[in-house]
Amino acid sequence: MRREKKVRVGVVFGGRSGEHEVSLMSARSVVGAMDPHKYDVVPVGITKDGQWIAAGDPMRALASGDASLSQPAAILGDPSRRGLVRLEEGTQAIETASLAEIDVIFPVLHGPYGEDGTVQGLLELAGIPYVGAGVLASALAMDKIVFKDVMVAKGLPVAPGVAVMRKAWKASPDEVLDRIEAELGYPVFVKPANLGSSVGVSKCHDRAGLARGLADAATYDRKLLVEAAVPEAREIEVSVLGNDDPIASLPGEILPSREFYSYAAKYLDTGEDASGLLIPAPLSPQMTERVRELAVQVYRAIDCAGMARVDFLLSGKTGALIVNEVNTIPGFTSISMYPKLWEASGMSYAELIDRLIDLALERHADRVQCKTSYEPGAAE
Ligand SMILES: Nc1ncnc2c1ncn2[C@@H]1O[C@H](COP(=O)(O)OP(=O)(O)O)[C@@H](O)[C@H]1O
Ligand SMILES: [Mg+2]
Repeated sequence: MRREKKVRVGVVFGGRSGEHEVSLMSARSVVGAMDPHKYDVVPVGITKDGQWIAAGDPMRALASGDASLSQPAAILGDPSRRGLVRLEEGTQAIETASLAEIDVIFPVLHGPYGEDGTVQGLLELAGIPYVGAGVLASALAMDKIVFKDVMVAKGLPVAPGVAVMRKAWKASPDEVLDRIEAELGYPVFVKPANLGSSVGVSKCHDRAGLARGLADAATYDRKLLVEAAVPEAREIEVSVLGNDDPIASLPGEILPSREFYSYAAKYLDTGEDASGLLIPAPLSPQMTERVRELAVQVYRAIDCAGMARVDFLLSGKTGALIVNEVNTIPGFTSISMYPKLWEASGMSYAELIDRLIDLALERHADRVQCKTSYEPGAAE
């Protein structure tokens, strides 16, 4: 796509999520890599309490906790006032003058209230193009239980699982434990349905461990997923990019520093003890192709757009390839798996950002083509 004038990109970061700090790191990389000849960057921060801030230096305001470095702002769900508006402090009044017109938003927000369709819904209402998946795919990828149901309906391979409502677990724990033991046996993984970064995820080897795992996961979510453990699981990940014709990168592999890829293995173990990345993953040419094809099928199954990282578990014991989950806003620092896989597949970090912005504009243009009113008889 050739452009005559600079594109004004609102990069949104921070947010009401446990992955707030990871988001700041991703956003710094994104902003640093955007060509100033092509883009005017408008940084927009969201505090841990959910307050939007723009102007001044929102990145420093979030990193230092000094709110005076930026100003309260908002995006209204009203396309006639497109862009960022300034909120007058104290009065709650909204100034009509906008802070900035924005051509496209790049949400660099991980986890709930950012990657789950909520921010995407606001941007749909506001009529602003945005990078990445829409409302439906974002929400589907965030809910591990509904995601699994969709995969099963499409005939795509997932680990057998049992969904447990927190209420049912609290009301009759023994019944829940019996059902899981009858359907899955051990070992199993317990996960909150809507979270990330392995928070609340545990591997359970017996009834007492399962009870502990469910009690812990139930502190994070009202829906829980218990899943049969994939034996000797290898963690294979593929980056997918595109709207109607998505393409897949080479696969990569994670070598977790612990028994599984837990929160500690992701973020706490550093230096020699850190988890490793193998790019590309050491797989046979046939398996490499199978994983890439399956990644695109998964992406299409949830009607994803823009980008996603599709994560698999490959059993070292049985050779079974299982779809684990989709991340619609994957870690995006220049050393994160998503951009690294594209680099290994021949696309630089800066080029990747260009592609994502083009895809956002393309998707929006496609969407505004649709009629929003119905004239009876017009097509007869
Ligand atoms: N069914 C499973 N079999 C084997 N390992 C699993 C299974 N489910 C999860 N894990 C391990 O737990 C980690 C976190 O689970 P995941 O479903 O990816 O949650 P999150 O969204 O928090 O990343 C995985 O990366 C993997 O190491
Ligand atoms: Mg994961």
